[in-house]
Formats: sequence, C-alpha cells, structure tokens
Amino acid sequence: MKVLVTGGAGFIGLHCVRKFLEENLEVVIVDNLSSSSQACIPDEVIFYNISMETPDLKMIFAKEQPDYVVHLAAQISVKKSLEDPLRDCLSNINGTLNVLQNCIHFHIKKIIFASSAAVYGEPGYLPIDEAHPQNPLSFYALSKQTAEKYIQLFSDHFDLDYCILRFSNVYGPGQNAHGEAGVISIFLNQLLQQKNPILFGGEQTRDFIYVQDVANAVSLALHAKKNGTFNISTNSETKIIELLDQLQHALNSSNSPVHRPLREGDIIHSRLDNTLAMKELNWKANHSLKQGLLETIRFSTKANAR
Ligand SMILES: NC(=O)c1ccc[n+]([C@@H]2O[C@H](COP(=O)([O-])OP(=O)(O)OC[C@H]3O[C@@H](n4cnc5c(N)ncnc54)[C@H](O)[C@@H]3O)[C@@H](O)[C@H]2O)c1
Repeated sequence: MKVLVTGGAGFIGLHCVRKFLEENLEVVIVDNLSSSSQACIPDEVIFYNISMETPDLKMIFAKEQPDYVVHLAAQISVKKSLEDPLRDCLSNINGTLNVLQNCIHFHIKKIIFASSAAVYGEPGYLPIDEAHPQNPLSFYALSKQTAEKYIQLFSDHFDLDYCILRFSNVYGPGQNAHGEAGVISIFLNQLLQQKNPILFGGEQTRDFIYVQDVANAVSLALHAKKNGTFNISTNSETKIIELLDQLQHALNSSNSPVHRPLREGDIIHSRLDNTLAMKELNWKANHSLKQGLLETIRFSTKANAR
C-alpha cells in the first residue's frame, strides 16, 4: 500500500510519515518546503519538491499510483490569510481542488484531510462537538471550511472515501517556533534562549493535543471503513498562564513573563469534544499534557544545544 502525503515535510506531516513507515506503508511526499526543510525527511521516502497547486501533481500521481492520500499541505497562518486572502485561497482551496481531482482521476481509495477547530469560530457552547455551528473568523478558517465542503461533494458525486479531521491545538517535537500555530513552541523557544516569555492575556484556554496522538488518528482514519468528520483533541482546557507555568517549572526557569493584552480576535475558551473519534475510529489521546510537554522539552533542549 502506498500513501501520498501532501505537506509531509511539515511538523504534523513528518510524524504521520514515521507512523506510516512503522506500518510498512510506502510513502511519497509532495511538499514545496515553504515552511519546512528537506533535512528531516526519512531516506526511504520518495520526495517531490513541488507545489500541490501545479499541474505537475498529475505526473506524480500517474508515476506513483498511490492508494491513499493524506492531505496536510496548507498555508497555515491566520495572520497571512488576512493579509493576503488570494494567496491563502490559491493554496488551501485551489490546491485542495487539484489534489481532489487527481484523487478521482487515479481512483484513490481514501483521502484524509487536515482541517481545524478554526472552522467553528467563537464557541456557542463547550465542548464543541462536530454539529456545532460554523462561523469562520479568518480566511484561513474559511478556506478549511470550503475545502471540507469540496471533499464532501466530491465524495457524493464521485464516490471518494474520506475522513476530515478537525485538529485542536497541536504541539510536540519539531514544531516551528515561528509559526503562530504553536504557542508551546514559541514559549519554549523564548525560555530556552533565556528570554522573558511574552504572554498575551493568559486566562484564555486551549485544548492541546500531542502530535503523536494526531498521527495515530490519521493512521486510524486511513484504515477505517468509515467516512466522516471528526474532532481530534483531548476534550480538556488549559489556561495559557498555567501552560507557561508548567513549562517554566519543567525548565527551572524564573524569567518572568512580559504581560500584553489579549490579541484582538483571539477566542477566549476552546475545547473540542472528541467522543465521535473515540467511538467511530477507536482512537484516543494517549499523552497527557504533562507527558507531551516533557517529550517536547527533551527534543527542544537537544535541538537548542546543537
Ligand atoms: N499545527 C496545528 O496546531 C494545526 C491545527 C489545526 C490544523 N492544522 C492543519 O494541519 C496541517 C499541517 O499543519 P502543520 O502544523 O504540520 O504545518 P506545517 O507548516 O509544519 O506543514 C505544512 C507543510 O505544507 C507544506 N506546504 C505548504 N503549502 C504547500 C503547497 N502549496 N504545496 C506543497 N506543500 C505545501 C509546507 O512546506 C509544510 O511542509 C495543515 O493543513 C494545518 O492547517 C494544524
């Protein structure tokens, strides 16, 4: 069995790729390295440095004839999506459409799509289940919602099997500290460089999910007989100020935070209900925040020492 992973050189992508290799799947990565590097791609993987938006993608599908597609490649910055909505659309909507057309043309067995909690917008109730109303607050969120709808219509019209996974806040080893997606990697980076961490607000809560649990969900979704849309989360809330406290404690750091007001547009509380994924995909989050943070710290400390 061969799986083509778009965005496979990225943070979540590399964890998925390692999981697939453990399962003896053949892996092909399509990634334009716009927010990643080739350095960590395992040797046994076939790698194409191209954009999923280009017609060249068809040649790769024709040559590799993958059985499955895991579609992770995206413009992931909310800020950039607001600055340049057209670029966000070309990547996240047109790029997804190009991937989908190739899935149909080459009779792919199933596509797994990385969506986001961002599709829900401001929560009307907690925990947010999959039936919660959707109100995207950024072009990034809108592009994820639109891509989801394209996938569902492709499935209706062309019998494409799919799982859409809506991730909460993913963290873990290898996350880029400069991407706005990763408050944990940003804090870690600041603390390891002996800087005072910048704390926007602090009382707001997020649902942090460890990246290996996410890779596990992607793998289970790939093999599952079911189609569907699933939250992938821990169904728990952590205050950002408490998260910082845990990191400082683990690193023995006494650098006091620089307090800033909550950023405009930041959601106050977020927690995703993961009951459906547990029931239908037989998945569960195996890492507590404490365990996940220790693994992440271990990795970052080593990387920082190099
Ligand atoms: N990290 C999170 O907390 C989180 C939360 C919700 C959803 N997601 C989604 O999960 C997916 C993976 O996110 P990540 O955190 O690993 O981000 P990442 O930036 O580390 O990975 C994305 C990868 O896609 C590649 N890429 C971007 N545009 C491309 C294009 N046009 N063609 C080919 N490759 C392209 C990048 O080079 C990168 O390697 C994304 O779709 C993201 O929206 C992530």
